[in-house]
Order: sequence, then C-alpha cells, then structure tokens
Amino acid sequence: PVLVLDFGAQYAQLIARRVREANVYSEVVPNSMPAQEILAKNPRALILSGGPSSVYADGAPRLDPAILEAGIPVLGLCYGFQAMADALGGRVAETGVREYGATRLTSVDGDSVLLAGQDLDQNVWMSHGDSVHEAPDGFTVIAESAGSPVAAFEDAQRRLFGVQWHPEVGHSDRGQEIIENFLVRGAGIEPEWTTRSVIEEQVELIREQIGDGSAICGLSGGVDSAVAAALVQRAIGERLTCVYVNHGLMRKNESEEIEKAFGASTGGAKLVMVDAEERFLTALAGITDPEEKRKTIGREFIRVFEQAQEDILREQGVVAGTGDDAHAEAKAFLVQGTLYPDVVESGGGDGTSNIKSHHNVGGLPDDLQFELVEPLRALFKDEVRAVGTELGLPDEIVHRQPFPGPGLGIRIIGEVTKERLDVLREADAIVRAELTAAGLDRSIWQCPVVLLADVRSVGVQGDHRTYGHPVVLRPVTSEDAMTADWAKVPYDVLSRISNRITNEVREINRVTLDITSKPPGTIEWE
Ligand code: XMP
Repeated sequence: PVLVLDFGAQYAQLIARRVREANVYSEVVPNSMPAQEILAKNPRALILSGGPSSVYADGAPRLDPAILEAGIPVLGLCYGFQAMADALGGRVAETGVREYGATRLTSVDGDSVLLAGQDLDQNVWMSHGDSVHEAPDGFTVIAESAGSPVAAFEDAQRRLFGVQWHPEVGHSDRGQEIIENFLVRGAGIEPEWTTRSVIEEQVELIREQIGDGSAICGLSGGVDSAVAAALVQRAIGERLTCVYVNHGLMRKNESEEIEKAFGASTGGAKLVMVDAEERFLTALAGITDPEEKRKTIGREFIRVFEQAQEDILREQGVVAGTGDDAHAEAKAFLVQGTLYPDVVESGGGDGTSNIKSHHNVGGLPDDLQFELVEPLRALFKDEVRAVGTELGLPDEIVHRQPFPGPGLGIRIIGEVTKERLDVLREADAIVRAELTAAGLDRSIWQCPVVLLADVRSVGVQGDHRTYGHPVVLRPVTSEDAMTADWAKVPYDVLSRISNRITNEVREINRVTLDITSKPPGTIEWE
C-alpha cells in the first residue's frame, strides 16, 4: 500500500481517499508507529500528513530519518513537509507571515516532477505559521509564495518531495494532479486499484479465510451489511446464511422490500427472516423513557439474533446441545460490515480477531467463538457504495439513507404501541414518497418523522372539530451525522407533505417542522 503517516491532522483520512481516487490503494498509520514496523509493511510510497504542531515545539512528533533513507518515495504535506525539511538539515522558522486559506503562489516550476504542468493560475490551501526557509542539500525549490520562501521542493533522484500546502483538500484547485504526479511520475506506481480489483481480491481473501466452513450475516437493511453479505455470497455461495430480524419497528413495507431486494442482489445466499414483532411490542409495553426503550430494543434484538444463529448452527451441525450446554464443534464465521473509519478510529490493526460474541451484535453464549469476516474494513462509505453497485445491488439499497437500529421505536414520543406505529408508518411513507418525488433523496441526509403521541391539539376538518396528534418533520443535511443542519426543503414540497398527511392519516391533524441544527439538537428525538 501507499501509507499515509498521520501527524495528527484531520486530513490523514482525506489523503488516503485522494490516493484511492487516483486508483492506488492507501492506508493510514499513526506517526507513533516505529520506522521498522512501517518499513516492514513494504510501502510503495509514503505520504506525511499535516498536523497541528510546530516542528520546534516540545513534544512535537518527529520524523525518524530512517524513513527517508530507506529508498521509498516520500511526499511531505504541510507539517510533514516541514518535518522532512527539518530531518534532512533544511531550515524551518517563523516568517512572521502566516498563511491561512486560499493562497496564490508567486512561482511554480511546471517542469518539475511533482508540479509538472502546473502554473500560477490556481489557489492553494495553506494553513501554517512556520515556513521552510532553506531546502535541505540536494533539493530544488519548485514553488514559492509570499509567506513561504520554500513552498515546495523535490529531490527527484532520491524520490523525496514536499509541498507546504494541502493538495488533498478541495480548495486546492489542482491538488489531485499533484498527488497523481507523485504517485505515478515520482514513485512509478501503476494506478490499478479499482472497485473491480477490490471485489476480486476480497472474494479471494474470504475464500481463504472461510475455507469449506460456513458463515452467518446479520442484515439490517443498510448498505454496509448488504454489501458485506453480497461479497461473502460471491465467495462461498449458499454456505452463507443471512439473518434479518423484523422487530416490528420498521417503516411501511420495509421488511418486504429488504426481502425482495435481497433475493435480487445475492442470488444463492439463504435468508432467514425472523418475525419478532410480538416479542418486541410486549417488551416495550409501558415504557416511555428513551434510554429504557433503547436498552429494551437492544436486549431483545440480541436475544432473537442469538437464537436464530444457534438454530442455524445446530442445523449445520456446527453446534450440539442447547443454551448453556451448547458448544462449538467447528469454526463458525460471522460477517460484519465494519468500515475503514471505524477501524482507524479504534486504533487500526490488521487481520481478523477471534472475538467473544458479546463484543459485537451478539451477546451469544459465552462458549460460542466466532471468527469475524469483515470484507469492508479497508473501505470508505462511498467505496462500499461503488462495490455494491458493481456487485449489482439495486440503487435503493446502495444509496439508502441511514435508519437507526431501534427504528420507529425512538420516533414515537411516549409509549410504543402497534396502533401508534401504524399511524407513524403511514405519515412516514408519505414523507418519503414526496421527498423522493421531489428528487431530494441524495441532498437530504435523512428525514425522521416523529410522532408526538402524548400531545393532542384541536383542529377542524370538514366542519368538524378534530383532536389529533402532531408529527414533526426532521429533515437534515450532514456529512457524517456528527453534526447536522436542518434541510431547507422547498415550501411547495413541505406544503404537499402537510396536506397529504393531514388528509390521509386520520389521527394526525398537525404537521410541524424541526429547524434545529445539531448541536444542540440530535438528529433523532430520542
Ligand atoms: P443522533 O440522533 O445521535 O443520530 O443525532 C445520529 C445518526 O445515528 C442514527 N442513530 C442510530 N443508528 N442505532 C443506529 O444504528 C441507533 O441506536 C441510532 N441512534 C441514532 C441516526 O438516525 C442518525 O443518522
């Protein structure tokens, strides 16, 4: 891989994504990783990320010169560029001129390897106080700006390169070209990493891992578990069994759609649909506290899933006995849709881990050991979507908006009952249909519809007094659900939604709009 050495920037993952966009596989590693370990990964090239520190500050992360002496092509960005200059004997200091945001260069060497074809007609995104004043021996200065006497340098012989700005951010007009110049011209890497190659490679790896064993995958209806299942299905065919638990808190027709789409997308795999509506509704009776609802739903889900898995494993002869007596006789595999950001955030790590079930979806019997199969653990969300499309999954699944595990259970404020769920399902179906008809599915992150089941208000309809419930529309835009803004849905769309709900859903006589950003409001109401 091309390794991105993370110096604490929020940019490291972004750099890895840009490299992948250039069709070259890339991973992020922490700067605390010893040089030997980095070199042992046999990187085809290294990119040093930016970071918040000053090279001269106490405790600033250093760059081990061994990395620069190993003959591996290296590109330093921002802090990485300065750390490189510092490690090789250049001079880094404050200029007194800080550069932040879109900046113009004052000179560019369009004949250099790194900046080939570039000129002054571009913005570059800067964010730095220190600057490189003198390039180390052997380097040529290939760009300058007002605040950076050395804004970029290269030693094409040793294949070492650096720029002061952030080519990975979209505000640097021609940044992607620089990354591609480095990879292809500088490091001589053939760009051949594509969605198709990912699929071939993963299918191969899954076959190796599972051998002639069999696997189970919990489907949620979301894109990650669907794509993971489709990959494993391609690898081991009918030895994969998928489990879908219908907790009765899904939206209108959702379980049926998931079942139908599953058949269309993963030919041979078996699907076990577990209908647990009764069980969940019984468990939720009388509960109004949001946390208690969540805990109840989570607990019941685990119990149902656990039971389904045990049944399947017993049928396959992997497990004998029941409950506490159950014991593993052969290796069982559990497929999960873990994504790359989860892996990076939890500190990285290679390969698969043998886990006890209560660390994942399961809470399975303690003596049931599962080996995880995580074919998406190297991928970003949009790459997962591309893989899904390439595998032939329908758009409704591949571009599905997020939907919370506890489902509509956390969108009814008050006790959850079958009647209330049915009311909410109708209103929610209208909202989804109208947003889709207006072409807003991709611009809106998601739009929860919340039923204020314990609130009533007076209305009038056809000369009659009504005394119904309000629903709240919560359309939001977001990048990652960590923060969100309320979506400015056009008035005519809102108006159609409001008319239809109050006309078609008898119990609802008022439609309101939530115009709170996150923070302070969360996306879901509970
Ligand atoms: P909040 O309400 O925290 O939601 O702003 C952020 C995102 O997470 C989704 N969400 C959940 N997803 N299980 C899930 O799988 C949950 O318990 C859960 N709670 C919230 C929510 O829909 C939004 O996209």
